[in-house]
Amino acid sequence: MNINKIGIYYFSGTGNTKLMAELFCKQFKINKINTDLIPIEDIIRKKRPVNIDKYDLIGFGYPVHAFSAPQIFFDFIYYLPKETKKKTFTFKTSGDPLFHGGATSLIRKKLKKKGYLVFHENLIVMPANIAIKYNDRLIKQLYNVAQRKIKKKVGEIINEKENLQKNNIILRVFTYLFNSMESLGAKYFGKYLKTSEFCTLCGLCIEECPTNNISKVKGKIFFGKNCAFCMRCVYRCPKNAISNRFLNFFIIKEGYNIQNIIDNPSIKADFITNKTRGYFKHFYTYFISD
Ligand SMILES: Cc1cc2nc3c(=O)[nH]c(=O)nc-3n(C[C@H](O)[C@H](O)[C@H](O)COP(=O)(O)O)c2cc1C
Repeated sequence: MNINKIGIYYFSGTGNTKLMAELFCKQFKINKINTDLIPIEDIIRKKRPVNIDKYDLIGFGYPVHAFSAPQIFFDFIYYLPKETKKKTFTFKTSGDPLFHGGATSLIRKKLKKKGYLVFHENLIVMPANIAIKYNDRLIKQLYNVAQRKIKKKVGEIINEKENLQKNNIILRVFTYLFNSMESLGAKYFGKYLKTSEFCTLCGLCIEECPTNNISKVKGKIFFGKNCAFCMRCVYRCPKNAISNRFLNFFIIKEGYNIQNIIDNPSIKADFITNKTRGYFKHFYTYFISD
């Protein structure tokens, strides 16, 4: 395959998948391959056509939501134009090396139906953006490991090495079940979002919501039923004024801005070592794996 131009389509709620898309882009560019990054919400929200013809290779990136992918990503696949055997790679970011689920094979199948042939799939672990605050040293370490892994993966993709993840039947059933729960959860999470008295009606949440789910009604912020459960509005609010009536335990109290941590030179990336025991031991296995 002669690769002159690559298009990477991605969804990212809180920036992790975007950061990874940028790392892929950087590595492709180092290998002198022109690469475009396209957030899928721009296409879905503005109902723009997807112009895929100019690309020799397509990449798709998404965050893991409840062992699967967010609904917005499935909607995007539905929206894609039909192709004939377009070479494709995928990557997903998850908050844990063990609980990433089985969306890869599901997405591979859905893409195949549309004429996109996935030959390379990647899992990149990033800090969870829900419920649990990761240690800053682990956040930085995950980013550094991602950089190293993506450099290698890009070499494989350029050389057309096949790398498909195996998702057994149990994982696929789990993914299916949890994904339906996530869709329901998203509806309720969105419905029960609220703003506090600190809200200045600046409108950033309205502007940033990937599904146009937030609006201003009679001088108040209104959250609709089409929430993507991506957490973006909650963490981006400059006044920290968005919370959830009943499902507040999903929101990390300290907020979520990993860029500050990655950019902070005084934070060391040394949380996990070969001596790590207990829950985080399996992160080390992920670090040293291919
Ligand atoms: C609603 C929701 C469900 C999630 N479910 C999972 C999960 O099942 N397994 C997992 O490892 N991480 C899970 N995560 C964590 C994200 O996959 C992870 O933090 C990801 O890198 C976020 O990417 P983003 O910043 O591009 O949105 C979930 C996050 C959200 C918001």
